Amino acid sequence: MDNAIEESLQIFADRAGDPADLIYARLFAVRPDLEPLFVGDRTGAARGEMLSVVFETLMDMASGGEARRHMIAAEVVNHDQLGVPAEVFADFFDLVAAAVRETLGPDWTPAMAEAWGEMLGRTRSLSLAG
Ligand code: HEM
Repeated sequence: MDNAIEESLQIFADRAGDPADLIYARLFAVRPDLEPLFVGDRTGAARGEMLSVVFETLMDMASGGEARRHMIAAEVVNHDQLGVPAEVFADFFDLVAAAVRETLGPDWTPAMAEAWGEMLGRTRSLSLAG
């Protein structure tokens, strides 16, 4: 179990309010071209569900779980069909990490930086594996 990841996500959850607002605002700030992909998601339900799956994936991988790794491979294929290339899919995990790091501010520890660095290497290689 990687407590540094879990600890950072716990503090993030306590502080960030609705993480969907923060994360998607950041995404569309750097990639405004992706916003139209979500026009059908009027209620934000798909955005919320997607983000909760992303957090579940990170928590699962931090605790050594395997199931979510397979889900990444499947979602990369689904997203490619939506018009989201694997590289852009992989970048989303980095964007989440940056939001967590900035929200934690001075509470972001070297152990968290190391654990997230390693995690992002894994999410990237899993995303680009196909
Ligand atoms: C910038 C990167 C990404 C973009 C632009 C994107 C875009 C989208 C869009 C447009 C949908 C809604 C599809 C629909 O119309 O139903 C969606 C759904 C979903 N995405 Fe992503 N995605 C990204 C990254 C990811 C990542 C990294 C994951 C990680 C697992 C993920 C998991 C999901 C899941 C599980 C759903 C289904 C949600 C539901 O039940 O409706 N996405 N994504």
